[in-house]
Amino acid sequence: MVREWDPRTASSAELESLLALLNAVLTADTPGDPLWQNKQVREYLAEVMPGERRLSWLAEDTTGPEPRAVGHISVLLLGDIGVIELYVHPDCRGVGLGRRLLAEAARRSYMEGFSSIGVEVVGGTPAVRFYETLGFRCAYAETRSVLRLGQVDWLALGEMARGIGTGYRVEYHPGGPPEELIESYAVAKAQVRDPDEGDLELRPSSYDPQRLRDSIACLHRRGMKPYIVLALHEKSDDVVGLTEVVVPAQHPTRADQYDTLVIPDHRGHGIDRAIKARMLFELRSAEPGLVDVQTWNAPGNESMLKVNADLGFEPDREWFEYEAEVADLVQRLDTA
Ligand SMILES: CC(C)(COP(=O)(O)OP(=O)(O)OC[C@H]1O[C@@H](n2cnc3c(N)ncnc32)[C@H](O)[C@@H]1OP(=O)(O)O)[C@@H](O)C(=O)NCCC(=O)NCCS
Repeated sequence: MVREWDPRTASSAELESLLALLNAVLTADTPGDPLWQNKQVREYLAEVMPGERRLSWLAEDTTGPEPRAVGHISVLLLGDIGVIELYVHPDCRGVGLGRRLLAEAARRSYMEGFSSIGVEVVGGTPAVRFYETLGFRCAYAETRSVLRLGQVDWLALGEMARGIGTGYRVEYHPGGPPEELIESYAVAKAQVRDPDEGDLELRPSSYDPQRLRDSIACLHRRGMKPYIVLALHEKSDDVVGLTEVVVPAQHPTRADQYDTLVIPDHRGHGIDRAIKARMLFELRSAEPGLVDVQTWNAPGNESMLKVNADLGFEPDREWFEYEAEVADLVQRLDTA
């Protein structure tokens, strides 16, 4: 049975059942990735940025004493794209449930006037064939890398943290950048924004101060704690480099690296290395339960790949962004 489902009003039993589904999928598809804990799962699923909406559907097996979640799809409606996340329990795959759930999300996106659907697809999992079969095209490819804190060479890292050119100051801000630096922080992000990068902006960054405030507030509401390390140019007090890591309550042993950037005029002074190294020291003491940090990089981004390798990040698996036109998808799913 498939029905529209709202995490805000769902029972705790439904949320627990959904969590069990997600963990079964993780175990089957990405063994080694941490399983999710039952912490702020409702908030994680329910909270969105102003102007965005997330709709979801749940497939349940109702033959047992208690209904059991066997499939789930959500579509986050942002701008003109709907970003989907779709999970089918490994025991229930290959019988058309994925297709059925996708049809719900595609039809609704079509009715709401959205033109395209995007999805992050993990390399080496059945999802690649699934989306290709349904006519999605691969728009962007990245590599995920993981750094295990237990294997970090802290002595070498200390040198990197100190190896920044003169005229710069490094600051650590757990929780987010302070209000007095928000403006300068957003300017730095806007300056390094690359409109030709080619990704689908399925996880858009925030380039203006208000959006940045909103996105930090949204992370907190979803149970995701942001940590920021900044490089400031001492002469101007401008933000010239930044790195962002988020520790989610749902899988607190693994942190997610978000944006890292150094604005072009200030490159070549060891800022990237210094801020990332400082971040790892801060995370080690602020989050004693943290085991590793994951990051995603485009294969062409040589300089960042080099710094990440020096820090101890190891490439783990490919990660793709796939896209389909909603109208085509609806037609394909209806006629199949
Ligand atoms: C991708 C996924 C949703 C597919 O669900 P499903 O219910 O098995 O898919 P369906 O049965 O509806 O299949 C639809 C089409 O995709 C194709 N397909 C699905 N899985 C496939 C596979 N492993 N190999 C080849 N084709 C596949 C089917 O052949 C089918 O096409 P057809 O109807 O023309 O035969 C499911 O595998 C899943 O949940 N994967 C996890 C997703 C994820 O994000 N994992 C990362 C870790 S969180």
